[in-house]
Amino acid sequence: MALNPEQIDMNKIVSLCKRRGFVFPSSDIYGGLGSTWDYGPLGVELKRNVKDQWWKSVVHRRDDMVGLDAAILMHPRTWEASGHAEGFTDPLVECKECHLRFREDHMEGIEKCPECGGEFTDARLFNLMLKTFLGPVEDSANQVWMRPETAQGIFVNFQNVVVSTRRKLPFGIAQIGKAFRNEITPGNFVFRTREFEQMEIEYFVKPGTDEEWHKRWLDDRMQWYKDLGIRPENLRIREHEGDELAHYAKSCYDIEYKFPWGWSELEGIANRTDFDLKQHQEYSSQDMTYFDDESHEHYIPYVIEPSGGADRATLAFLVDSYDEEGGVDAKDLRTVLHLSPSIAPIKVAVLPLSRNAKLVPKAREVYSTIREHFSCQYDDAQSIGRRYRRQDEIGTPVAVTVDFKTIEEDDSVTIRDRDSMEQTRVHIDDLVAALKDKLD
Ligand code: GAP
Repeated sequence: MALNPEQIDMNKIVSLCKRRGFVFPSSDIYGGLGSTWDYGPLGVELKRNVKDQWWKSVVHRRDDMVGLDAAILMHPRTWEASGHAEGFTDPLVECKECHLRFREDHMEGIEKCPECGGEFTDARLFNLMLKTFLGPVEDSANQVWMRPETAQGIFVNFQNVVVSTRRKLPFGIAQIGKAFRNEITPGNFVFRTREFEQMEIEYFVKPGTDEEWHKRWLDDRMQWYKDLGIRPENLRIREHEGDELAHYAKSCYDIEYKFPWGWSELEGIANRTDFDLKQHQEYSSQDMTYFDDESHEHYIPYVIEPSGGADRATLAFLVDSYDEEGGVDAKDLRTVLHLSPSIAPIKVAVLPLSRNAKLVPKAREVYSTIREHFSCQYDDAQSIGRRYRRQDEIGTPVAVTVDFKTIEEDDSVTIRDRDSMEQTRVHIDDLVAALKDKLD
């Protein structure tokens, strides 16, 4: 059983992530770049598994969904139509001395700059979108925005998908991709950053059926987190109050996770109505209606949007699986990630009992057989006990050990379970089947 998130010191997670190669501070050799992070060899596998599980669940296992991978840079009119050019802003005050900016709502009752004691300007609206320029001339004609959500790439392709796939409502389009926001208060490790990855669905429905689909998606998405191992008591649903609803939403529910610093949003599931398609119809003068051949009507579909973050989900899986077991002394402590086998970065570790000249070639042979089926790691450095601990700490669900019984007696190996630490013997010929059984 993993620890309750409230008992976890986030510094331990950050330190494990760096030590074992899950997540490094970005541009580390230059002292890092505020709130940007790089996924290391294990982190990239973990996050990729999270995204693959999402894609499997919302695209491959459904008949009513297709995928898309749209460009990050989009025509600037997109952001005028979506409302982001005007409305995606935070009111900020700026210190007249050191020019640091603060969110106005965080400075209530504070008269002077907390950094240098300078006076504040009046609050002004700052757009959270990051900008860049296309081509050699840096003028306003060539300015484009880095997308702050992947959603708009889906909306502008609505007709392309309908025409090319002959889809009928209800159906959805899923997309995973980077988004950028010039967040004023990034923090909590990879929870809030300025460059992040979203996993978004725009699900198009007949107006009038939207509320029913909203509920179905809320249930489906909640179940996905539970199926991948998040403990139900650490998840909850919170409905947005009227004043926190985004400009495009009729209603919205957040799936929240109980992070070590408190309940925070993992994923938002909004009813965006026909807002976006209507806006794009107006701004592009292209027809965004759908012809319903059952009712013989043209209409603009309503949209349910389950929108999650790949980085936040990955962090929640790390936190929810983190455990420290036994041992008063630090040396006896077993740190374990009880990750679901479907997202664990390494599924099987192959370990010879020692670096013995007979054991090593046999263990290498076993390794080359099973790496065809699972992501594997071979390790023969240091004692077997330390190697088990190293694998526990990165969440490897099973370890296969080749010992003297293997080579001298019966060609059997041990399979050690990460969570129970129980060991069972299996003949090498049956190993792949036994591992499939355990890991499924
Ligand atoms: N298209 C709707 C949309 O973008 P959002 O609630 O602003 O809605 C959706 O973002 C999800 O994207 C969030 O639930 C979160 O998981 C992720 N996300 C948003 N801002 C983020 C940030 N600064 N850092 C990391 N993840 C972020």
